[in-house]
Amino acid sequence: MRNLRFTMLVFVALVISITLCAKPKIRIIATGGTIAGVAASSSSSAYTAGQVGIQTLIDAVPQVKDLAEVSGEQLVNIGSQDMNDQVWLKLAKRVNQLLNAEGYDGVLITHGTDTMEETAYFLSLTVHSDKPVILVGSMRPSTAISADGPANLYNGVAALCDPTSKGHGVMACMNNMLIDAKSLYKSHTTDCATFKGTYGQIGYVYNGKAYYTSEPTYRHTTRSEFNVDNLDKLPQVGIVYGYANASALPMQAFVNAKFDGIVLAGVGDGNFYKDVFDVALKARNSGIQIVRSSRVPTGPTCLNGEVDDSKYHFVAALNLNPQKARVLLQLALTKTHDWQQIQKYFQEY
Ligand code: DGL
Repeated sequence: MRNLRFTMLVFVALVISITLCAKPKIRIIATGGTIAGVAASSSSSAYTAGQVGIQTLIDAVPQVKDLAEVSGEQLVNIGSQDMNDQVWLKLAKRVNQLLNAEGYDGVLITHGTDTMEETAYFLSLTVHSDKPVILVGSMRPSTAISADGPANLYNGVAALCDPTSKGHGVMACMNNMLIDAKSLYKSHTTDCATFKGTYGQIGYVYNGKAYYTSEPTYRHTTRSEFNVDNLDKLPQVGIVYGYANASALPMQAFVNAKFDGIVLAGVGDGNFYKDVFDVALKARNSGIQIVRSSRVPTGPTCLNGEVDDSKYHFVAALNLNPQKARVLLQLALTKTHDWQQIQKYFQEY
């Protein structure tokens, strides 16, 4: 009897020690981008994105094996200028499956930088887990002198493994910065430090550890009511760019094509050129939801500023740039066409 008790104690101690020493289980989903890009030479700035496979990317950073049990899968291999609704839906469903059904502790997504902010925001609205999801990319191709991809991938895995990374929603980890999905925007066409947060970053990664300095204040992930499980397509929403003496033809084209929603990347505080305004009003009266955002890189597009949104039943994008306003309007239109409810979504997400 004493031997049995001793054996049981040793067994339990063994299980506890294995559990405590077990490394986090991290899955990397690759989608392409410059991080997977290849140039003719290490000094050439001419390259093609989405050429290198996920296993090559992981093998290039063997140090991640010290941090976690890392495995990868290739969802697509595209330049993110070709990112689309179908890939978004597949990606969101796969991330939910990995975190909620397959026991992974975090998901890293390698992605092009051109549309990283849009994918990150879409995932912040459709991933239902408080486990960390982090997007990484690079501004230099994998073959470049001082390629920035490997360090971003390592830092992304390190942040995913950090217990303090739970509950912050979807983030990007670029150039040692941790930036939340809603704030994230690409601020420079070529700089490795291109990613900024409209209201600053939420943290940083240093020496393999994540440090958080602020928290998102909006609804995301586990507090999101948007669900893509049963969706195989998204509502059609286009963006019209505003400028002096703007043509109304792009807005008219979306109306003729019976789009479900149109976002204005307006001048200033989301203002229309007069001819564009006339078409927007007709569009709204035909059931197309209009959202006013701004081409100005920072600052809110305010409700009832120079445009009487309440009178025209327009929605003000508040703290979302045009490309993110499009994402939220697409998901909002899967639930309602009520402009006041949609405006509420823009206040909350
Ligand atoms: N083709 C662009 C993309 O995939 C390159 C930009 C990058 O990934 O840094 O987004």
